Amino acid sequence: MVQSSNAAGAKTPDFHIDPEAYDRMYAQSVNDPATFWGEHGKRLDWIKPYTRVKNTSFAYDDVSIKWFEDGTLNVAANCVDRHLATRGDQTAIIWEPDSPDEEALHISYKELHSQVSKMANVLKSMGVGKGDRVVIYLPMIPEAAYSMLACARIGAIHSIVFAGFSPDALGARVNGCDAKVVITADHAPRGGRATKLKDNVNQALLHDVDDVKCLVVKRTGGQIAWREGLDFWWHEEAAKVSADCPPEEMNAEDPLFILYTSGSTGQPKGVVHTSGGYLAYAAMTHEYIFDYHEGDIYWCTADVGWVTGHSYIVYGPLANGATTVMFEGVPTYPDAGRFWQVCEKHKVTQFYTAPTAIRALMGKGIGPVEGSDLSSLRLLGSVGEPINPEAWNWYNENVGKGKCPIVDTWWQTETGGILITPLPGVTKPKPGSATKPFFGVTPVILDDQGNELSGATEGVLCIKDSWPGQMRTVWGDHARFVSTYFEMFKGYYFTGDGCRRDEDGDYWITGRVDDVINVSGHRMGTAEVESALVAHATVSEAAVVGYPHDIKGQGIYCYVTLMDGVEATDELRTELANWVRTEIGPIAKPDVIQWAPGLPKTRSGKIMRRILRKIAENDYDSLGDTSTLADPSVVEELISNRAALA
Ligand code: WTA
Repeated sequence: MVQSSNAAGAKTPDFHIDPEAYDRMYAQSVNDPATFWGEHGKRLDWIKPYTRVKNTSFAYDDVSIKWFEDGTLNVAANCVDRHLATRGDQTAIIWEPDSPDEEALHISYKELHSQVSKMANVLKSMGVGKGDRVVIYLPMIPEAAYSMLACARIGAIHSIVFAGFSPDALGARVNGCDAKVVITADHAPRGGRATKLKDNVNQALLHDVDDVKCLVVKRTGGQIAWREGLDFWWHEEAAKVSADCPPEEMNAEDPLFILYTSGSTGQPKGVVHTSGGYLAYAAMTHEYIFDYHEGDIYWCTADVGWVTGHSYIVYGPLANGATTVMFEGVPTYPDAGRFWQVCEKHKVTQFYTAPTAIRALMGKGIGPVEGSDLSSLRLLGSVGEPINPEAWNWYNENVGKGKCPIVDTWWQTETGGILITPLPGVTKPKPGSATKPFFGVTPVILDDQGNELSGATEGVLCIKDSWPGQMRTVWGDHARFVSTYFEMFKGYYFTGDGCRRDEDGDYWITGRVDDVINVSGHRMGTAEVESALVAHATVSEAAVVGYPHDIKGQGIYCYVTLMDGVEATDELRTELANWVRTEIGPIAKPDVIQWAPGLPKTRSGKIMRRILRKIAENDYDSLGDTSTLADPSVVEELISNRAALA
């Protein structure tokens, strides 16, 4: 066994596996997945144990994914109840508030059990039952975890909407899954400012879902508008119910949650994850990849509004009986040392964040890092986008002091858990590479025609066979699930990412090959931004592409054609940027808007985004063949407009 050590040189636990064990386990996991997962599925407590482990097909005319299909369990009981006997008094959640002046909370497994049970009873009293949908629109407060687990306890399906999304985006999601209840808070403090969350909910529900009930957590006591008869205070309702709520027996394949995510076309789709396979996969990856051991203080800085928060703040860690840190704030408030102050304060052992945060903090110099004692750290993680070697090195040297393994974890909302990643104790680090597949994961690189490429090569990344954490369907639209992920390359799960494999067999993700852009680690469909733009009265047509951005990874670059007679002014440009911000949310605010008298189109009317991407990148030499354009002169015009912008 390889021994890990932290910066203080203290003796730390053995890694779970070594290179020999990885090879052996990986081989079994892909050659005999039923035996492998049959064994590892036992890490959960089952009410009725499964006998069928894997029943999956990627065949285009018969896509169907089922794991542990005849087993029953309850996810909340696995994350809470089963720990009570052995660790009832251990801290389950450390909550660190937005302001360091407010006190942090330590919530024990016992306390978590009581809060989750009460929340479950409150939801029941509001009419929520097995299979009903509940939308959660909360800041990063403990009630977010209580809500998720309360739904799981009674078999309701939660759908979290990131608290940064606009009322319109929220309304679309409440409608999309036909939610019975929305759980929200009065105001959401973040970075010293408060968002009026409840007001956003009121606005969202105004349209055609105004009978949806709302459970409101009092976070700040700020002013809100109340809908009599429909709105309920969490603290008042909690006082009326018992702290005893027996967990519902659920089938392994019953949906646990829906999470809306952006794709290359149309509106966001509801990714559906189910109970048994998802939880087993989240828990196992959490333990092995983050080298999780008893007594560790594990911190993932994501938001529960994204899949990372689901799998690696709540479900994975709590299934493992871990202590998980939940942070309400932002890395730069009150100053750029906040992350490191929190690491020191809570003696964090594993720290998991996004490259965009690392790059932003890198820009502030090493002063803020050196101000804190980081000797408790044993492992660092990265997720959301490719980490550039410069940021990797900075993270390694200044945060990890050269002694912490770094796991660059590649995965997606759809995959439920991490698929490609270094493993501590196993993998030789390679800055910028996600390296090797986790157990049971079979990555392949295909050419455009769908041929599998071997050896060192580059192409699109697909996965050949199912793993337990995989999404099962798109909510209410199985045909869309099949056409999005299984149509382009028949027999494979298509990830939407480009990828290179080097001579050592290590994988390097090169970014999306579809019309999805990755802004500060957040996925955005260019189609969503385009439809927001054309919804403005002055806009006739819009095309949106990503372009390289120093901090955000990718920025949002919009080409806008105005209606005849509308004057292209700087004021209008600002108005349009703010318009998109209100339509979707602050993360979707365009970075650049370029006026485009015309857009490059093929004779059949298809916009040639390849050309628009090159112009946005200021890369005019490799525009490729423009002769198929209906009107090649628009390209010249766009290039000269681009020059005027720069
Ligand atoms: C990108 C986030 C390179 C990728 C968990 C993927 C990454 C998309 C990495 C999914 C990584 C995520 N290296 N690229 N380590 N992690 N991505 O659904 O393009 O929000 O397809 O899930 O993020 O984003 P999502």
